[in-house]
Amino acid sequence: MDIKSASFVMSNSLVEKCPASELPEYAFIGRSNVGKSSLINMLTSRKNLAKTSGRPGKTQLINHFLINEAWHLVDLPGYGYARVSKKDKKTFQKFITDYFQERQQLVCAFVLVDSRHEPQKIDLEFMQWLGENEIPFSIIFTKVDKVKPKALERHVNDYNAVLLQTWESLPPFFITSSSKNLGADEVLAYIDEINQS
Ligand code: GTP
Ligand code: MG
Repeated sequence: MDIKSASFVMSNSLVEKCPASELPEYAFIGRSNVGKSSLINMLTSRKNLAKTSGRPGKTQLINHFLINEAWHLVDLPGYGYARVSKKDKKTFQKFITDYFQERQQLVCAFVLVDSRHEPQKIDLEFMQWLGENEIPFSIIFTKVDKVKPKALERHVNDYNAVLLQTWESLPPFFITSSSKNLGADEVLAYIDEINQS
């Protein structure tokens, strides 16, 4: 899919205030600093569409972007950021869970995981929660420029093995690096395929 246009629409923390539109929507979620905003910039070939930072906790709100006047891409705050206060964590959890449970336009969530690590409890729990809530998701492995091929293979296999303990089939997964511009075509082709169906 060619990205002909990509523009910021709005930020907010209330699902009721998200754009009143029927357009299909794809959301990017994962631990703080995993590379959600960078991935969005890679997918859209725009350097600064989504704000990125070396420090975790940069994205704090639900951010909608309009792509090709045809679908929305949503950048979300990360989970598991230890320096956020308990109260903020609760507020955050609520607006994110509300978003996933109530946003009818959501077609697929992309759960980003850092390819350098073995399956993490917090990511597995989040995938479990999505599954229980019948929210379709795919997995995106990020920062593959930082991991050796053997370790990457092991981490992907480990995720698959853990997921197969609970679910009968595996979600699609993608291997990406925003620094090396890897994997964008595959993710965009997948979105295109769903949009066409
Ligand atoms: P929050 O908004 O804080 O939840 O973070 P995020 O998941 O949006 O991460 P962000 O895109 O801001 O990136 C976090 C850090 O990781 C930045 O320093 C990025 O430059 C770096 N980063 C992101 N993607 C990659 C990648 O593919 N490879 C490498 N080496 N670094 C990356
Ligand atoms: Mg971010």
